[in-house]
Amino acid sequence: MSEYDKTALIKAALEVRKNAYAPYSGFYVGAALLTEGGKIFTGANAENSSFPVGVCAERSAFAAAISSGERKFVAMCVTGERQNNNPLMSSNDYCMPCGMCRQFMTEFCGKEFEIISARSEEDYQINTLDTLMPGAFLLFGGFT
Ligand code: THU
Repeated sequence: MSEYDKTALIKAALEVRKNAYAPYSGFYVGAALLTEGGKIFTGANAENSSFPVGVCAERSAFAAAISSGERKFVAMCVTGERQNNNPLMSSNDYCMPCGMCRQFMTEFCGKEFEIISARSEEDYQINTLDTLMPGAFLLFGGFT
């Protein structure tokens, strides 16, 4: 399904990004996930003193949706913003999901699942899961 309200999804991701907890990296991420039924679930990254314990915005949004009983998804918007001067992190690039999040998406989403990487409501790039995660590993063929 590529007919859906992209602006609403982008707005939701930008809004939830305000709640990101990222004092260690200074990289604030918001994600908004659209279900087949038209609902939007959101998530922000939540970091931790023990760095690997932190969770990405994308998996936060998926966990919220899964916890509400949702299993079928159409698209996700991801938006990231650097808020410190760490030269290793770009504030200009479109924020792409990390490898772990791509694997997570693969469990529930089909090849056509769309990932909107947005810098603003007007400035975004769309990729399908198929192009971001070719040859994904799945036991039993996954959910879809
Ligand atoms: N992060 C996300 O939440 N999603 C992404 O797509 C990329 C990375 C978070 C993890 C960590 O809190 C911070 O961004 C820097 O890696």
